[in-house]
Amino acid sequence: MAPHRQVDGVNRHHWWRDAVIYQVYVRSFLDSTGDGIGDLAGVRAGLPYLRKLGVDGIWLSPFYPSPQADHGYDVADYRDVDPVFGDLAEFDSLVAAARRLGIRVLLDIVPNHCSSEHPWFREALAAAPGSPERARFHFADGRGPDGAEPPNNWHAMFGGPAWTRVTEPDGRPGQWYLHMFTPEQPDWNWREAEVAADFERTLRFWLDRGVDGFRIDVAAGLFKHPELPDSPDPEADARTRDSVNPLAWNQPEVHDVWRHWRAVCEEYTARDGRERLLVGEVSVPTAREHARYVRADELHQAFFFDLLSAPWDADAFRKVISEAMQDIAGTGSTVTWVLNNHDQVRTVTRYGEPAPEGSGLGAARARAAALLMLALPGAAYIYQGEELGLPEVVDLPDDVLTDPIFRRTGSRARIRDGCRVPLPWSGQASPFGFTSGAEGTKPWLPQPEYFAEYATHRALADTRSSWHLYRDGLQLRAALDQLGDGTLRWLDTQPGVLAFARGDGLVCAVNFGTAPVPAPVSGTPLLASGPCPTGVLPGSTAAWWIDAP
Ligand code: GLC
Repeated sequence: MAPHRQVDGVNRHHWWRDAVIYQVYVRSFLDSTGDGIGDLAGVRAGLPYLRKLGVDGIWLSPFYPSPQADHGYDVADYRDVDPVFGDLAEFDSLVAAARRLGIRVLLDIVPNHCSSEHPWFREALAAAPGSPERARFHFADGRGPDGAEPPNNWHAMFGGPAWTRVTEPDGRPGQWYLHMFTPEQPDWNWREAEVAADFERTLRFWLDRGVDGFRIDVAAGLFKHPELPDSPDPEADARTRDSVNPLAWNQPEVHDVWRHWRAVCEEYTARDGRERLLVGEVSVPTAREHARYVRADELHQAFFFDLLSAPWDADAFRKVISEAMQDIAGTGSTVTWVLNNHDQVRTVTRYGEPAPEGSGLGAARARAAALLMLALPGAAYIYQGEELGLPEVVDLPDDVLTDPIFRRTGSRARIRDGCRVPLPWSGQASPFGFTSGAEGTKPWLPQPEYFAEYATHRALADTRSSWHLYRDGLQLRAALDQLGDGTLRWLDTQPGVLAFARGDGLVCAVNFGTAPVPAPVSGTPLLASGPCPTGVLPGSTAAWWIDAP
């Protein structure tokens, strides 16, 4: 968080506007119980590490009771902790420890769907068609002879049809229920008041326990077109994991929910002065659509994924940054930049393709992109391991893969296990200090040998590591008025190079090419993503300068 008091002459400072939040994927962070799966006590033990890195807060991936069909995004009880991850007492200790260290805590809340083991879904299965129990979900009769065809042609995001047929309590094949992800994740019917009321209870449950806000899963979801009509182009709706089926996502009613949740947060803020944050996972087609989710009385922030999906190309980056600044900053909110998360191929690997393996190109570009992101106006999210420069693990054998996408599609194309491999902390061999278990304890996904190079102990000891780049960038963000919230001004550059000025004299430039170019500022950089001699900006490198008049 930069120390602004005044932005454009107005006092607009709210902590979240330029916060840097670290995403903790709990099962892969640190295992304190020795079962090979990370847990909440492990997160607590890792807080000093995160304090040293300098982040403003953490977002915890779901740790609620769950059969783990989609690693916790299938919630069976929204107001408890799965024993795999700890218990409520451990959760309270974590929140208290984070508060002592000045680290804010955001929880992941999953309102679009629950687990098929959720008691209300069990009740719905046991109840009759047309019952109030079924009305909390989307149950419908099938089409065709004997209702053997799904009620409409929608595809699920993770492969296969979006409907599964149930067996009625009397043993006959019966109705179908809607699930936009896996069959283990039935979609809630948000047109039922009870559903909304239960989520409000959940919000208050965790706010009462001291959390600073929520990351909202699938925040453009929740409402479906009331008639559940056929889609004109069902293939397109599910072509990528982030495709938008216009009948299932982004319905106007969802904005009323965010207005209500915002009001709940404001109520807590009015009580104790601590501002709570709602950040949405919003996948919609344009920056303009996205901006509607962050209007002043809705979500504070929504992840801006266009930067993450942009190819390594100066024009592509400039276009998405300009659109975001224009459409999102225009709402009065700030842009929420993100390059990595638990659903995406890590930047080191993504930007490396199709460069030959071992060229280091992907790693250099990922470092440059990080420095660019940290210089942009707004908030930024860092996914665990990103600060270590971890690559995607691309060669996990089929038999260890756990992503339901693999099971549902039979293809490795979109799978997410490779960015979820447990973090290396120390030592030369797996488990690299990840688990406190006895020798031989295996992490839930195997760690490759080369993770030794990226272990946090090693990264902290090497000032050239990615860890130091992130730490230095965060320190400068905290120290310099020019960084964080505010605006940017593009500078003229040669093709393949982006440069912009922030506030009074800070310049950030990125060379997307591979050959060196003259630096836009003559002095020594404050910080650079790689070796950067004075006067030169080498290829695949970003740097920050103060341009003294
Ligand atoms: C979000 C999550 C992803 C999850 C999906 C279904 O996209 O980030 O991990 O599988 O929602 O809940």
